[in-house]
Amino acid sequence: LGSSLHLCSCQTYVLSDKDGLGRVFDGIGGLSGGGATSRLLVNYAEPYRSQILDFLFKPNFGASLHILKVEIGGDAQTTDGTEPSHMHYENDENYFRGYEWWLMKEAKKRNPNITLIGLPWAFPGWVGHGKNWPYDFPDITAAYVVNWILGAKQYHDLDIQYVGIWNERNFDIKYIKLLRYTLDKSGLERVRIIASDNLWEPITLSVLLDPELSSAVDVIGAHYPGTVTVKDAVKTQKKLWSSEDYSTFNDEVGGGCWARILNQNYVNGLMTATISWNLVASYYEELPFGRNGLMTAEEPWSGHYMVDSPIWITAHTTQFTQPGWSYLQTVGHLEQGGSYVALTDGRGNLTVVIETMTHDHSVCIRPPLLPFNVTSQNATFQLKGSFASIKELQVWRSQFNFKTQEPSFFEKLTPLKLVNGSFTLHLAEDEVYTLTTVTTGQKGSYPDPPPSAPFPKVYKDDFNVRNPPFSEAPDFADQTGVFEYYINMTDPGPHVFTLRQVLTQRPVTWATDADQAVSVIGDHQWRNLTVTCDVFMESVNTGGVFIAARVDKGGESVRSANGVFFWVFADGTYKVTNDLGVILYLMKWINVFHESFSCSSSLLQGQYASGLLNGYPLWKNAVVLTAKNGWAAIGTHSFELAQFDNFAVVAE
Ligand code: GAL
Ligand code: CA
Repeated sequence: LGSSLHLCSCQTYVLSDKDGLGRVFDGIGGLSGGGATSRLLVNYAEPYRSQILDFLFKPNFGASLHILKVEIGGDAQTTDGTEPSHMHYENDENYFRGYEWWLMKEAKKRNPNITLIGLPWAFPGWVGHGKNWPYDFPDITAAYVVNWILGAKQYHDLDIQYVGIWNERNFDIKYIKLLRYTLDKSGLERVRIIASDNLWEPITLSVLLDPELSSAVDVIGAHYPGTVTVKDAVKTQKKLWSSEDYSTFNDEVGGGCWARILNQNYVNGLMTATISWNLVASYYEELPFGRNGLMTAEEPWSGHYMVDSPIWITAHTTQFTQPGWSYLQTVGHLEQGGSYVALTDGRGNLTVVIETMTHDHSVCIRPPLLPFNVTSQNATFQLKGSFASIKELQVWRSQFNFKTQEPSFFEKLTPLKLVNGSFTLHLAEDEVYTLTTVTTGQKGSYPDPPPSAPFPKVYKDDFNVRNPPFSEAPDFADQTGVFEYYINMTDPGPHVFTLRQVLTQRPVTWATDADQAVSVIGDHQWRNLTVTCDVFMESVNTGGVFIAARVDKGGESVRSANGVFFWVFADGTYKVTNDLGVILYLMKWINVFHESFSCSSSLLQGQYASGLLNGYPLWKNAVVLTAKNGWAAIGTHSFELAQFDNFAVVAE
């Protein structure tokens, strides 16, 4: 006697290359820049800095990224700070500024096959000839961008493989063609063009209508495509990439977002590369889009970093496929929700990645996510074609476990034995599986880094470095303008080595940069503190500089930063304002005498601020009602040359 009721949602999915393959896979990547997103990374001490780089780039270790995209610094604010240009001025060329060169070299050291991409967000002012627009002199813009690619090769032996147009701004057809022409003329035929790092349209239509443009453009790159493309983009027969995506807080929902889009960007949108903004969240967390990176490294002073879930979600794909592999045509959605992709190297290897992320656990920052359902299910996969004879697959699993809050990421399970080329999995909600013939996967690890700690309360920098490894001083995060180590040959004594604001012109901006240059540093929670700095204005009559405390905003909001700003001017006056924009006065000015290098210092205690110049009290008991807390800062009144030395903070 026996009756049984067998309920089963056990759909069979065929994985086969019988009818040919799908598109060629181009890789998964991270984006450093757009902007200053790796700013604090470079200031980590060893061994932590190398460990972080290993989690990002080392093959068979962590995210093992295939692509590194970087900003071509344009001296302007591009989300979390400014990145220096290789040509601040028309007759200036320097390929050792900033940290993107270094980052590319570190990535390449670990993975010599990594694909490198450069894209400008902003341009130095001279490129636009004073207009906030880079296309009036397209030959200048093209030469400027091509110089960056040539410099990468000449000074760092870096081969940039792809270059873009202007991040999320207008493209200009004439410029794209001229860029192609200039690349070719410079021996850079191998460098390919991505356009236009914005939406699918209007670039797609332009490419369809203009054969010459079509032959100049190799990749249509869209941002935050929400896993879908448009028919016309497919019609171009170009590679389709999600050339910027993710930008989501890197908690478990962020990891879920990343898992869903990595698969579905191909399943729904035929995109063969996806690039995360950003690579690593290495900027002060209170700047815009804090922790929107694959991992977090925002405390160089403590050495603390976090390997967040997106790293292990990336590993599910990157460790088991390489650019040049092909997707199978047999990819798709699972019956009860979720998706699967399969890739092959064309030589018998097979990698299958499955995700069952539920809606609420995979929301990304943008675009809005329409409702859908995912429930647990059994799924049977039937291997056919070249894969029919596969006997065993390695199994890697991540379970987000939102209920118990005890996730397990990138866990190696016992290999699966296949019976007649078939296997069945029980898939719960919010899981990611990789099934693969590739046996080299590894979950890399290092001993725990030091615990998290706030920025040191006592901090100073005399900038006395003869050959600095980077152009920027540790932990200063430029929000408008560019501050660089400088050797002041004309100073007889104590101020040979200084930090100098070097921009003399407003850049072709991407965000709304301030009219003043400003670099922030420290702890955003700081309230009561003394900031001291020697300042020197190079503009003899018109110069102006400031030191500041409780600076509350940076990034794209830098123009509206409040705080306590103590300004000293070359005409002998001073001011104290509540804002960077020099509108909200706290103190009237009087004439003061100051030397070429003056020491200004300002003290904040509760509601009261006071300031000293060269040791003499200049103003006191300014009542500060609005600025509650924020970073310390230095800066200039306009885009002008000025130097800073012996910066010091003592905070409570
Ligand atoms: C993108 C932009 C990035 C960054 C990001 C933040 O649109 O290209 O630079 O601002 O948004 O979500
Ligand atoms: Ca010095």
